[in-house]
Amino acid sequence: MTNTYHSDEYAQVYARSLTEPESFWSEQAAHIPWMKAPETILDQDENGVWRWFSDGVMNSCFVALDQHVEQGRGDQTALIYDSPVTGTVEKYSYSELLAKTAVIAGGLADLGVSKGDVVVIYMPMVPETAAAMLACARIGAIHSVVFGGFAPKELAMRIDDANPKVILAASCGIEVDRVIPYQPLLNDAIDLAEHKPDHVVMLQRPQCEAVLSAPRDVDWRAWESGASPVGCVPVAATDPLYVLYTSGTTGKPKGIVRDNGGHAVALNYSMGAVYGVGIGDVYWAASDVGWVVGHSYIVYGPLFAGCTTILYEGKPVKTPDAGAFWRVLAQHRVKSFFVAPTAFRAMRKEDPDCELLQQYDISSLEYQFVAGERLDPPTYHWLKEHLDVPVIDHWWQTETGWSICANMAGIELLESKAGSCTLPAPGWDLRVLDADGQEVGPNQEGAIVIKAPLPPSAFPTVWKDHQRFEDSYWSEYPGFYLTGDGGYRDEDGYVFVMGRTDDVINVAGHRLSTGRIEEVVAEHPAIAECAVVGIADPEKGQVPVGLLLMKDGVNQDEGALQSELVQAVRSAVGPIANFKRAIVVPRLPKTRSGKILRQVIRKMIDGQEYVVPSTIDDPGIVDELRDTLSRNGWLG
Ligand code: COA
Ligand code: AMP
Repeated sequence: MTNTYHSDEYAQVYARSLTEPESFWSEQAAHIPWMKAPETILDQDENGVWRWFSDGVMNSCFVALDQHVEQGRGDQTALIYDSPVTGTVEKYSYSELLAKTAVIAGGLADLGVSKGDVVVIYMPMVPETAAAMLACARIGAIHSVVFGGFAPKELAMRIDDANPKVILAASCGIEVDRVIPYQPLLNDAIDLAEHKPDHVVMLQRPQCEAVLSAPRDVDWRAWESGASPVGCVPVAATDPLYVLYTSGTTGKPKGIVRDNGGHAVALNYSMGAVYGVGIGDVYWAASDVGWVVGHSYIVYGPLFAGCTTILYEGKPVKTPDAGAFWRVLAQHRVKSFFVAPTAFRAMRKEDPDCELLQQYDISSLEYQFVAGERLDPPTYHWLKEHLDVPVIDHWWQTETGWSICANMAGIELLESKAGSCTLPAPGWDLRVLDADGQEVGPNQEGAIVIKAPLPPSAFPTVWKDHQRFEDSYWSEYPGFYLTGDGGYRDEDGYVFVMGRTDDVINVAGHRLSTGRIEEVVAEHPAIAECAVVGIADPEKGQVPVGLLLMKDGVNQDEGALQSELVQAVRSAVGPIANFKRAIVVPRLPKTRSGKILRQVIRKMIDGQEYVVPSTIDDPGIVDELRDTLSRNGWLG
């Protein structure tokens, strides 16, 4: 499809990124410090995957910290820890964060961790978490951060896949005013896992002290104070920096691998080109280090670019109220702010007219970015009404590490359209294809794919499972990366991402697999079969609900069954699954080959039009299901 852009500047940059990718990205590569600058800009590895800067040598921690100190910016604030849940605001200069990181890196080396070893980080939003990630990078170890809201089984799956030598943990997280002890969760996970780490280093927080059992458990503070700083280990640009697990269509999470060189180049580029910030600017991504947003835009991106980043341990509401974000923006003079729409929906619910904003001076704010889920038009309009800055929806994924589509604030802001994430960012050759692999016309929906080679930072493989990388992402349309999202482009080429075409759902900005929840529900002794689908929710965006087929002869009270299943999902997946509703149905609609028609079920519950495929086994089941759902008040 021909793109008709409004701006020459964007159009030129974008066109050049596709026609001359090597010179485009080698120019960007020159903006980061290398130990050995790459001569090979783009080539293919032994699996045939396109790789960037393969003969370059560098260290991501050096790019994030040391270079700024060496260039005289040691006194500039690197990180602000703002924690309303503990009543703390602490600032770390680049020199201070470097000193702390180098010592933690030394501590890891003391425990036998070296280049290529994996370290799992199961920690809340405290400065030590960011320093720990950077410390791993410093010695060439591979970190794998696991979000604190996951239950032990999920953590165990990640431990078994990643095989960490050491786990770094904290004694608790704090959810508004609730202390969540991490040690019991971690110990359960280690018990469940086949792989056992050599050591667990525990950061004791005063809200809840863990009981340590030597020699496996190590007290963080004693460990840190006994360690000596170490320098940066040279790594190849293509060496892995981290593995971050994300949900796929099956219950087993996928270990997304990020390399060092391409990641540093793309993220450094994105800070200026996408977010319009540079050295000395204050940038805030209100997410969690357990998600890709936290990796890319709380820790690495802003530090690569010499910004001040904010690590916020709190919520948009209740810490203490729906003015929490405005307070942080005002207090730290944030220039560019990035958050998931679900956070604004939570704020809008408590403060519909945005009255709390009147108490704060957020005049430093120049751009409001959102991503992580679709920016629903009501939230977009609420933001437009109350903020005096561009509201920029941008679209990306764990797999890509930075945005595939954005309104590029640092290149040229284009006219925005509600519901669209604007146009592809440089390097992303985006197409919308039909089932036969043909490009569709304007305003026609299809699968959103990206033509290879993907730009720097995109993942080169799935951890220890390259076949899964090929099967999940590259087999459906050979030569094109399957994003898993469906959508369309309008007559101006603007991209509208409408949602996942697979069994991944997005609950309050958290990516989850319905397949995983189904596995847990199906383990209940009363259940013969089940389908879990993500339905629209005004606050969370989507929430999972279960449709259950009972085993013959089982007669369990439906309310009690639902409570048991809710509890089972909480303890197997975690509270973030937000699984709260399930209903018993007589039959599930399926194709003749036995595939449950989840999309039909979802659309039926959401009140959308649905097409019953001709491959359906028994069309009567759809009407029967409609009836059951309607009688039980599930159809609005
Ligand atoms: N550790 C332990 N429990 C956690 C947790 C964590 N890190 N994070 C969330 N939970 C718990 C919550 O306490 C809640 O528990 P409850 O059912 O007992 O009340 C449950 O998980 C559901 O959490 P959530 O749906 O996230 O609701 P919330 O009210 O806690 O938070 C938001 C709402 C909007 C603040 C939060 O969902 C959010 O920040 N979402 C954005 C995520 C994001 O940044 N994604 C990245 C893409 S930008
Ligand atoms: P994650 O890998 O957790 O970042 O989740 C990625 C998924 O979130 C994408 O595949 C989309 O389904 C969804 N997503 C992220 N950003 C957007 C956006 N701006 N608009 C629509 N969906 C989005």
